[in-house]
Amino acid sequence: MKNIAIVGMQWGDEGKGKMTDYLAQKTDVVVRYQGGDNAGHTVVFDGKKIDLHLLPSGIIHKNVINIMAHGMVINLETLFKELRKFKSENLYISDRAHLILPFHRDIDTENDRIQKIGTTKKGIGPTYSDKILRKGVRMSSLQSMDRFIHDVNNLCSSKNISFDPEKYYKENFKNIKEIIPKITNTSFLLNKFVEENKRIIFEGAQGVMLDIDHGTYPYVTSSSPSVSGLPQAVGIAPWKINAALGIIKAYSTRVGEGPFPTEMGERLASKIREAANEYGTTTGRPRRIGYLDLVALKHASLSSGLTYIAFTICDVLNNIDVLKVCDYYTIEGKKINTYPSHIEDLKLVKPHYIEFPSFQKDITNVKKFDELPVELKNYLLYISKELKSEIAFVSVGPDRKQTIICNEI
Ligand code: IMP
Repeated sequence: MKNIAIVGMQWGDEGKGKMTDYLAQKTDVVVRYQGGDNAGHTVVFDGKKIDLHLLPSGIIHKNVINIMAHGMVINLETLFKELRKFKSENLYISDRAHLILPFHRDIDTENDRIQKIGTTKKGIGPTYSDKILRKGVRMSSLQSMDRFIHDVNNLCSSKNISFDPEKYYKENFKNIKEIIPKITNTSFLLNKFVEENKRIIFEGAQGVMLDIDHGTYPYVTSSSPSVSGLPQAVGIAPWKINAALGIIKAYSTRVGEGPFPTEMGERLASKIREAANEYGTTTGRPRRIGYLDLVALKHASLSSGLTYIAFTICDVLNNIDVLKVCDYYTIEGKKINTYPSHIEDLKLVKPHYIEFPSFQKDITNVKKFDELPVELKNYLLYISKELKSEIAFVSVGPDRKQTIICNEI
């Protein structure tokens, strides 16, 4: 497969960074397609841990071309900080990506005080709102100070915000000057790469259950992590994406507010949280933990057309005595067929579980699928069969080396 979308199938934090990094070893181009520095992608190799919020995970690889597509929203401070750590000769930033300005973060914090979504307070929602309202400031505005001042003033006057764009531009000029040559029409570039038969990975942030359309609205982010949103976010035709690799954590987590039907009791949750270090990479918040939810996964696969699955963090399942999988929801005793749209319905759902015996072994050094405990194999094969997708990878630890290849993609 040449061009592969890597998509989080749950509420984010599935381990997309690790899988992107793994596949980037054999790829030409990595494209981050949506979101901003609300994301936190962790990559571990040779005992070194790298946290990325904004740059594509391919940045770690010398020969990989990295693209930040126009579906993204970009916080310059985070960008400059990450660029200080990584060499970026092969980085291109879309001229159409929108800028997160300092006041977007203030608005986000203020909105969330009232609406209580539990956002990351990174200004994501307010920036995407300005984009849709046709008032946003794009990366191309940075190419000249006059344009930037004009565009930011235009935005601020519509919101009654006092902000000095000239001061901001001058203060950041040294860094802005460095990124200007990287700002380009990345859709044009990407189509050229497709024609040249380059191998391309599209790296999603967050997960389908946080998608603005397909997620647990309004407890979602403001972009489209789903594969169906990807072509629009990068500017290529949908049929140029050959496959989708869905990243599925072996249990569920979510951070922030919002319904979570399979959430487990705190005693077991805290055991898993500590074993897997389930704390937000961006905000440090403890993640909520739940059993695997096939209803949500089947819903997520509708908009993302799963081809392959990568199961992650399977090694911590030995903390659970009985592995439970939610196979359907009921509302007032009646089984429901599709994922509820309204939050009030979602609050009423009762998960029905099927149970699998667990295993007690340490599997962090297992190298082959056949050598995994039979209990784990049965659990993973059941989920893959239900999702009608093949297992490509099983991850048994955070390091790049702790990845079992089941199907060469
Ligand atoms: P926002 O994206 O900051 O607007 O936050 C909206 C919701 O998405 C909140 O519940 C966040 O906790 C969640 N969220 C945003 N980014 C991530 C992520 O990378 N991992 C997990 N949850 C996220």
